[in-house]
Amino acid sequence: MNKQNGHHSWPEDVGIIDIEIYFPAYFVDQGELEVFDNVSKGKYTIGLGQNRMGFCSDREDINSLCLTVVEQLMRKRGLTYNQIGRLEVGTETIIDKSKSVKTVLMELFKDCGNHDVEGVDSTNACYGGTAALFNSVAWVESSAWDGRYALVVAGDIAVYAEGNARPTGGAGAVAMLIGPNAPIVLERGLRSTYMEHVYDFYKPNLMSEYPTVDGKLSVQSYAKALDKCYEGFCRKAEKLSKGKDKKCFTLKDLDAMLFHTPYCKLVQKSLGRLSFNDFKRDPDPDMHLEYRGLEIYRDLNLEDTYFNKDVEKAFVDHSKAMFEKKTKPSLLIAKEVGNMYTPSLYACLVSYIASQRIEDLLGIRVGMFSYGSGLAATLFSLRFTEDIAKGSELRYLHESLQNVQSRLTNRIKVSPENFTEILKLRNVTHHQAPYSPIGTVEDLFPKTWYLEYVDDKHRRNYSQLRGAPCITLNGHISKVSNSLHIETSKVTDEFCKPSATPISIKEGLQLV
Ligand code: ACO
Repeated sequence: MNKQNGHHSWPEDVGIIDIEIYFPAYFVDQGELEVFDNVSKGKYTIGLGQNRMGFCSDREDINSLCLTVVEQLMRKRGLTYNQIGRLEVGTETIIDKSKSVKTVLMELFKDCGNHDVEGVDSTNACYGGTAALFNSVAWVESSAWDGRYALVVAGDIAVYAEGNARPTGGAGAVAMLIGPNAPIVLERGLRSTYMEHVYDFYKPNLMSEYPTVDGKLSVQSYAKALDKCYEGFCRKAEKLSKGKDKKCFTLKDLDAMLFHTPYCKLVQKSLGRLSFNDFKRDPDPDMHLEYRGLEIYRDLNLEDTYFNKDVEKAFVDHSKAMFEKKTKPSLLIAKEVGNMYTPSLYACLVSYIASQRIEDLLGIRVGMFSYGSGLAATLFSLRFTEDIAKGSELRYLHESLQNVQSRLTNRIKVSPENFTEILKLRNVTHHQAPYSPIGTVEDLFPKTWYLEYVDDKHRRNYSQLRGAPCITLNGHISKVSNSLHIETSKVTDEFCKPSATPISIKEGLQLV
């Protein structure tokens, strides 16, 4: 707390100061995947609303994704690792039941000698990033805060077994810098959470990357959690504004509405569902022209309508213009990369910021729906600053995200056949030790961290791709430098050997 005029006060405007995103260099085209999977044309592209799906070779894992995005953000901001007092990771990509991803990231802090960094990992399906964000904001607002920034990292590799869930995969990571006087502030006292014990999506097989999914139940659980969170959010918003105005809170009070995005079609339906909620909560819908023709749905119970196609269509149509303006711009990355799990909602925030004019971000209020199967869900809201002057934080953030589209364009297309082989390779080698990845590193974006090898004690060793030739650990000249040697003293010669000839993902790899 700050001390002002002898009184303690909360730090002002705690929220997101900056945000960076990383998605893998490879993608598979969803239209081509429809043909390969022998499903009807349009099922993935129109039915699910997905264009492309990002994925990683065996060169990347959850640690490397998070190393890449954290370093990317720190480099962009020109920060030193001494300036971070808390670092927290949200992920459901578990490669170690004890050691957190956070502790791996501490290797980046080593040169600065900063080991005084609170926070570990948070896990509950796609909700972990939101838990990490809330914890970090709470830290800045607490008596434990020491004046430094917090860093929130959300990262995942979303892969499914062959079958109907596979096209809803994706991969990526987001890093957010948290502190006071932020350009994007979490509104205080305005959060609504819904949690329940449900087996809709879970990962009981620790030897596999794949979840066990009850697809229909997961969609129903998402809709139920959305209804419950929205009901609580509206109630709290109305209470907070009591005295100022007496009207019902509706979607009209938000300038944008962003959702956790397993696939884009679900998001459009979800905005429709919120407009159905608005309609049902309206004390006098007959007074509003916009609701004409929808009267027949007035007496339906929310919980009886999760799979009611008539209600769904009616309110998707009703909210179409609102979707175009308030939600669709947030789906840029989700449509091209797919479900990133924990970073998904924050990738939507990045997409939204990147696709607006800076003037249109001024003072806006954004609804954020976070959903993690199992289940944990929260609806909260963000307020953007009114300061978009030259040199302001928001202008800087907006400008720094203008390269998102070109980064998406610069990825490498892989055929469905090779994509399938790579997923097979990842699956069979998931917990293999020792292991030397065979994927090529040349395809990765510059400065990407990647897995060098796993030693016989399951210790992972990472390197970072540079652009210039330099000496690597094994003395060979290559594009690789800046190896992150975790416990290098214990790594034997055997594992310092160059890995097998890298296999080009584009040309394909043969599994025996
Ligand atoms: N052209 C156009 N649309 C088509 C076509 C076609 N040729 N074929 C099918 N469709 C439509 C369907 O009508 C359906 O649309 P609708 O939902 O509006 O009715 C849509 O495409 C999907 O088809 P389904 O047959 O319903 O798909 P399926 O049941 O095979 O799989 C599912 C969908 C359940 C979402 C599956 O991909 C899955 O399990 N994914 C993982 C779980 C998930 O993402 N859950 C969401 C929340 S939890 C989380 O984030 C992990």
